[in-house]
Amino acid sequence: MSPVTKPAEGSWTARYPELGTEPMSYEDSISPEFYELEREAIFKRSWLNVGRLEQLPRKGSYFTKELAVASTSVVIVRGTDGEIRAFHNICRHRGNKLVWTDFPREESSGSCRQFVCKYHGWKYELDGACSFVQQEDEFFDLDKADYGLVPVHCDVWNGFIFVHLGEPSQSLTEFLGPMITALDGYPFDQQTERFSYRAVVGSNWKLFMDAFQEFYHAPILHAKQSPVAARPEVQAMGYEALHYEIDGPHRLVTSPGGKGWLMPPEALKPMETLTRSGLFGPWDAPDLGVDPLPGTNPGNAKHWGLDSFQVWPNFVILIWERGWYLTYHYWPTSYNTHVFEGNLYFVPPKNARERLAQEMAAVTFKEYGLQDANTLEATQIMLESRVVTTFPLNDQEILCRHLHKVAAEWVADYGRERAGATR
Ligand code: FES
Ligand SMILES: [Fe+2]
Repeated sequence: MSPVTKPAEGSWTARYPELGTEPMSYEDSISPEFYELEREAIFKRSWLNVGRLEQLPRKGSYFTKELAVASTSVVIVRGTDGEIRAFHNICRHRGNKLVWTDFPREESSGSCRQFVCKYHGWKYELDGACSFVQQEDEFFDLDKADYGLVPVHCDVWNGFIFVHLGEPSQSLTEFLGPMITALDGYPFDQQTERFSYRAVVGSNWKLFMDAFQEFYHAPILHAKQSPVAARPEVQAMGYEALHYEIDGPHRLVTSPGGKGWLMPPEALKPMETLTRSGLFGPWDAPDLGVDPLPGTNPGNAKHWGLDSFQVWPNFVILIWERGWYLTYHYWPTSYNTHVFEGNLYFVPPKNARERLAQEMAAVTFKEYGLQDANTLEATQIMLESRVVTTFPLNDQEILCRHLHKVAAEWVADYGRERAGATR
């Protein structure tokens, strides 16, 4: 193995000079005041991915999404007409949360013909219309037509369901922009076998996004991926991405994937050899019937292994050359906590071997996620000391620069608009 060399494109920061090369402040990740501004400036003014169409297979299927960052819960439902709609999850009578199961703070899913409030039994159709008021004639000139559920803007792109909690200034596809919508036609609809993880992480949401938008840390933090004997060599090689790209508020990093099937057995763990799978997913790719895969590998990298599309603000689609994909979501719950969600999507397995390979990828993913999450709590703790206030970022940490710059810009725009409105 030879040391990794810089790609022919040269310096990434030189390509995006507006991002600069100065040391960076992380005040935006440790300031409660900044977080309060992000809630309004970012999370109430962006399209947010809340799930996939497969979660709503039938008329009447629904799921709820807790959006603590916006102090609300939304319910997303497939109506009797097949339409996908979203509503704030609040009953119009006295404000009870409308849809929940055993624990009011937890998310819920299922299917129903109508929503019935647990408190006094008001009923709502799947299109949000109020259809029944208990003892209606005891109210005062109440017209049920005035008491429908409060709608939330909702749209679907390639099976991904998005909501917008404010008044969108752009359609969903305008918001996603050319780099993300180049994925139109990618066979997401074939990859329906889903493994889900969720964790409460004691770090700012942007710090976790940073960890998954540079792989410079991978040979060190995730050294245990390699058998002990191979670790010094892996670490000496370091890491170089194949391509970075920025499109509006969105980002992309392209990386080689681990090609286990090409590696000598001594560089692999026995379980990887046995299951033909590991962190980089099953070694044997399904036939997706689409070649090339739309929107992938925009840098035309020769050794393409994966693309990590960082969709502003808090959603990541990570597509693997081996025919599967991951999503990540980072849902802020305070300035120094968030809920991390990781989902792995595969073509449904045809036999036990394929199933085991998918399980192997899923459990390995969990181990890695924990390694990252632990480290980020340690980072958050010490950033909050403010003993050091600026930090040097290298050429490959360019997407981290971009994320924090976009957050600052959206907060500044919001501040300007608010100042203008009060003048
Ligand atoms: S709060 Fe829902 S019916 Fe009273
Ligand atoms: Fe990592």
